[in-house]
Amino acid sequence: MKYICAVYTSQQEKDFISQAKEFLAADSVSIDQIDRLIVLLNYADWKYYVKDDPVLADQEYDALFKLLKHLEEADPCIIRPDSPTQRVAKGLNPDFQTVAHLVPMLSLDNSYNAEDLRDWHDRNIKIIQKEAPLLSQQTIEYCVEPKFDGASISLVYEKNQFVRGATRGNGIQGDDITTNTRQIKSIPLAAEFAADGVEQIELRGEVVIQKDKFTAFNEKLVEQNLAPLANPRNAASGSLRMKDPQEVAKRNLDAFLYQISDVQGNTPFTTHYESLAYLSNKGFRTSFEISKVFQTIDEVIAYCAAFEEKRDDLSYEIDGLVIKVNQFSLQEIIGMTSHHPRWAMAYKFKARQASSKLLNIEYQVGRTGSITPVAKIEPVFVGGVTISSLSLFNEDIIKEKDLMIGDTVLIERAGDVIPYVVKSFPELRDGSETAVLFPTTCPICEETLFKPDEEAVWRCTNINCKAQVVERIIHFASKDAMDIRGLGESNIRKFFELGLLNDIPGIYRLPFDAIKSMEGFGEKSAEKLQEAIEKTKIQPLHRLIFGLGIRYVGETTAKNLARTITNLNDLRSKELEELLAIEDVGTKVAQSIVDFFSHEGNIHLLDELEALGLNFINQQKSENLSGELAGKTFLFTGTLPTLKRKEAEEMAEAKGGQILSGVSTKLDYLVAGEKAGSKLEKAKKLGSVNIISEEDFLKLIQ
Ligand code: IVH
Repeated sequence: MKYICAVYTSQQEKDFISQAKEFLAADSVSIDQIDRLIVLLNYADWKYYVKDDPVLADQEYDALFKLLKHLEEADPCIIRPDSPTQRVAKGLNPDFQTVAHLVPMLSLDNSYNAEDLRDWHDRNIKIIQKEAPLLSQQTIEYCVEPKFDGASISLVYEKNQFVRGATRGNGIQGDDITTNTRQIKSIPLAAEFAADGVEQIELRGEVVIQKDKFTAFNEKLVEQNLAPLANPRNAASGSLRMKDPQEVAKRNLDAFLYQISDVQGNTPFTTHYESLAYLSNKGFRTSFEISKVFQTIDEVIAYCAAFEEKRDDLSYEIDGLVIKVNQFSLQEIIGMTSHHPRWAMAYKFKARQASSKLLNIEYQVGRTGSITPVAKIEPVFVGGVTISSLSLFNEDIIKEKDLMIGDTVLIERAGDVIPYVVKSFPELRDGSETAVLFPTTCPICEETLFKPDEEAVWRCTNINCKAQVVERIIHFASKDAMDIRGLGESNIRKFFELGLLNDIPGIYRLPFDAIKSMEGFGEKSAEKLQEAIEKTKIQPLHRLIFGLGIRYVGETTAKNLARTITNLNDLRSKELEELLAIEDVGTKVAQSIVDFFSHEGNIHLLDELEALGLNFINQQKSENLSGELAGKTFLFTGTLPTLKRKEAEEMAEAKGGQILSGVSTKLDYLVAGEKAGSKLEKAKKLGSVNIISEEDFLKLIQ
């Protein structure tokens, strides 16, 4: 049997690709080819999930996977445990069994500043002088690596095969989550350890969810009016213990390995840094590429301070750095406590949590009638901004977090993630707190609220509820929809209250003579607003679709819908089955679109917008085919000098370009601005990507 091993020569890589093409072209494949097919698919997985550098198109991978499945179905005896088909799980996990770790999973000691690190370094020197005076002349090397903010995991491989994944649990015993671990595609199902004489090995790492995957997952939840997952860390740890392994697969988790905790057999390395390189070469995603070794504590301190600034450039969350004595010989002398190794130290970044007081809860009515409780808190500075108000999403969250008005609450805001209430502190109550009374009627129109059994959100079902009408107009004009500059929330509310604006088409019939003489407006600003409104008549179709505010139709779905039609009116007549055939459209979304177009009022709205001259045509479709950038792929990174990221993406898309989410060989152009970070490094390394500035990009699309 041959296993995936990460050290490939470029010739081997070429061979893999030509083998793949052979398989794809073949009329039939014989069963003795199965080993080759498995090695090939595992190689493709490794390139995709560990190296972020896909070598096969999705359809090609799927075709090869199906081929393998057919062969295995014909003769189930030949199914190998490291076959990629074995990641796919059927049914639910039974209750998780408790398993003992081979070596306890310890925690880390924490440091917060340069002084803490110097004290630690001095202590290390003292221990070595005392315990091993002969070694005290040796320079202590420090390996510095990210402290991943996720959920820790322990992996066991026996005779090359992945046999067990476990959570940390109490450090001595954890939950057996082997089936769920198999859903994490960057964890190889087999690795060549036996070649080094290693029979069994236990590895430690952190399961994380990349920020873009987390945001995309949350956007989908929000589109369905469900509470988003709190933060990437909770998303990772919650996912590992999910009952349904297929749900785990959908979370797109990733794992970084950072430690070999136990090994039976010889290993060809004597330092921590080398051990990371070893694991990388075996096909694991590790912290190796972003780790650095230093000879002095001063260099470590300078690096830690500089890294904190770059924290947000990484594609996953970290909450600090971990500094480890690099030489195993010195680690052994320095030793450990029952809680943490003395040879390792976490350097924690500034907290993105702070406590505040819950002053009140207000209830907002959304454009689909959803009632969102919003916490008003004493202003608090957290994660670089002052927060005084934050969403509680639905009634269940208030109950789950046991919130009372007057409570002290813990707030977190990580990176670009929406701030949220982590918990309350019931132990700090003094009796003055009051219970939260969730309303039973709409705070605006007083309609009785309704909540279907299976949903978490209460709704006002009166579609003429003023709050809903205003919210629909605000959504239509918003940045991500029609992007009407100058027609923001406050102007819309003002015009609505004065009776100048009653519905979406009313935007295009605003009485500018009256507006000119309004306080805060003059001739100039009214004219500017009029121009801005006129200009949006030619917005791309997907913006209009998104702007209609169809329940569950977010930006991505709107783009997918726009791609399948030539005229907006085509959507009116689409049947459920036709809609279901569109990428990313499930039953809920499809039904919601059908419902939308079955409403007389919405048909009337479309007719009015068409008569007003709004663009109903999918211009992209025709330009895409002929546009100069047709089929070219783009990615924008860093801060661009004049363009907003979204604006630039749309300019590329309008010319037929496609936006990718990561750097890979599929990428044609990386448009890099200031502080471009890891994506730029990666593109340079690949060598195949055209790295251009905003100026070059503008020339290119002209
Ligand atoms: S080493 C034996 N390295 O941080 C050494 N831990 O706060 C113990 N963590 O439970 C762990 N990144 O889950 C180590 N590069 C890294 C890490 C890391 C994240 C987690 C780990 C541990 C927790 C302690």
